[in-house]
Amino acid sequence: MKKNAAKKALEYLWDGMVLGVGTGSTVEIFLDELNKNKDKFKNISCVSSSIKTASILEKNGFKVIDLENKVDLYVDGADAVDEKLNLIKGGGGALTREKIVAFNSKKNIIMVDETKIKKNIFEIKVPVEILQFSWRATQKRILDLGYESNLREKGAKPFITDNGNYIIDVNLIKSKDPINDCLNLKNIPGVVEVGLFKNMTDILIIGEKNGNVKIINKTV
Ligand code: 5RP
Repeated sequence: MKKNAAKKALEYLWDGMVLGVGTGSTVEIFLDELNKNKDKFKNISCVSSSIKTASILEKNGFKVIDLENKVDLYVDGADAVDEKLNLIKGGGGALTREKIVAFNSKKNIIMVDETKIKKNIFEIKVPVEILQFSWRATQKRILDLGYESNLREKGAKPFITDNGNYIIDVNLIKSKDPINDCLNLKNIPGVVEVGLFKNMTDILIIGEKNGNVKIINKTV
């Protein structure tokens, strides 16, 4: 499913473009497909959303540049998507750089397998990147809003993002207005970024179990 979606995303690329690249297993499949088609894309420059993605791009011989001017097209995966193309992202912990690159791109394409399509995206926890310095206090302030969260761990230690921060995964399933609560989370000092990507996706590519690929375009 992911491979079919990734192959379809490749059709939106052109040589000479500035390509923004997300993070995760779907993106890694996309990067494999891109690598197989390297001859068609000799002159692309890439802006990466993570150290891992940058290292794959460089290993495959693609040019990686800093984010400065607008990126032509951003391609990424997601953890959950609803019918309005709102996303929850950050399963891989790269949400902050992903959101920055997505925001600075002319067009956003998201590739998912059909299991990621949800009626309510908040049935999964929302990843929130926070500063290490104040993480316990930040977690308490989130609890004051009524929401439990857990510090993400890798092995027995806290997971550390590419920016040197922690991630807490916040359970908003009981929230009456989770989108507004994500804004409230973002406003807490110590919170760097929240994994809700609202109104950012232009094209959703869904790889289905039956082998089909469905495309949903943003309706304005
Ligand atoms: C990383 C992300 C990923 O896009 C998201 O976790 C989906 O990952 P995968 O393609 O492995 O299912 O947001 O921060």
